[in-house]
Amino acid sequence: MLKGENINGYVVLQDFTTAGGGLSKWTFAQKSGRVYFLKEFLSPKYPTPDAPGSEKSKQRKLKECQKFEAHHHSVMKQINEKCGIGGNLIFTLDFFRHKTKYYKVTEKIDVASLTITEIAALPLSNRILILKTIAHSLNVLHNAQIVHGDLKPDNVLIKRSKTGNYTAKLIDFDNSYFSEHPPEITEDVVGDMAFYSPELALYIKEDSSVKPSHLTIKSDIFALGLLYTLYLTGRFPIFDQEKYTYAGIAVMNGETISLEDDTLPDSLVGLINQMLARDFKKRPNVGEVFQVLKTMDVGKPATEASDAKKTTGLSLKGNLIAKKDPTVAKRTKRVAKKTTDTPSKTSSGGLRGKGLGISKKKE
Ligand SMILES: Nc1ncnc2c1ncn2[C@@H]1O[C@H](COP(=O)(O)OP(=O)(O)OP(=O)(O)O)[C@@H](O)[C@H]1O
Ligand SMILES: [Mg+2]
Repeated sequence: MLKGENINGYVVLQDFTTAGGGLSKWTFAQKSGRVYFLKEFLSPKYPTPDAPGSEKSKQRKLKECQKFEAHHHSVMKQINEKCGIGGNLIFTLDFFRHKTKYYKVTEKIDVASLTITEIAALPLSNRILILKTIAHSLNVLHNAQIVHGDLKPDNVLIKRSKTGNYTAKLIDFDNSYFSEHPPEITEDVVGDMAFYSPELALYIKEDSSVKPSHLTIKSDIFALGLLYTLYLTGRFPIFDQEKYTYAGIAVMNGETISLEDDTLPDSLVGLINQMLARDFKKRPNVGEVFQVLKTMDVGKPATEASDAKKTTGLSLKGNLIAKKDPTVAKRTKRVAKKTTDTPSKTSSGGLRGKGLGISKKKE
């Protein structure tokens, strides 16, 4: 699809760009004077009557499309009534098929393209504001028992607010699933191995010790712990990177991973380490995460409180005084090999499932 084309009433404003994992393309498009984000899914493709192929293969494709549509509609139904435009969870406004392809429409966000390093260098009060807005958005999903399933920096858009603070918008829960009901075919699991929880890594390996009922919203909490560590320190938490490439795989193999940073409040470090627990039942839920963040005595100005109120819908009271100087934040002691500004590419679970063997030694 090219600039100027009309897709179901949406006029394409720029040529489509291929998204991260190559599973979709996206552009901005205008309808009734308003500009939206428009995503084109590259699969499944709808078998139109004139399409080539046997009747049997068309029936198979049709079934796949029906499943895809049903999934999107059920997620939309669960979420849309709980959200409103202007919130931080970027939910689907419109979902439709045009010819052979499916499309999703969301609000357009003016993204401030901050790298992980730049985020980690923000004042601690602003980093915590980012963490809080993410927790608040995730809480909406988790209340609906929806596992985001693909939490990573690519799927968090950082936006500069009117007051000059940065806040976060949570996107891309197209590969979400209902808690305890992950895709039956492990190859249908989409995500980024760098953010896999240990139980997800085991599930993809088709390890018999892991049941679908173990794949819950707590799987997101593990990924959130990693994401938070990146935003706070610019790096992944400490684990044996000689032995393991990915944190979740290290934990799956019995390693304990931890955030160690004495420039951060102890309660924050403790919270994140709990989020990274191997046993998903020991991880806090996102409501608890939000509550701890809310009590962080590191913020500053009234502008921030009003920002958070706007972005999270909850007021952040208290006299917020910086506890420790965030500008001289010492980063985690161990240096990750890869920079985290270019997290690994999303690919299908099948590839990554087999990819569990690509780790350096024991994975
Ligand atoms: N609402 C939005 N406003 C502005 N830009 C957006 C919006 N949503 C997504 N984007 C941009 O488009 C990119 C791709 O979006 P998205 O994460 O939904 O696709 P994707 O599912 O990752 O694609 P794939 O699965 O093929 O990798 C994002 O990383 C972001 O840069
Ligand atoms: Mg994405």
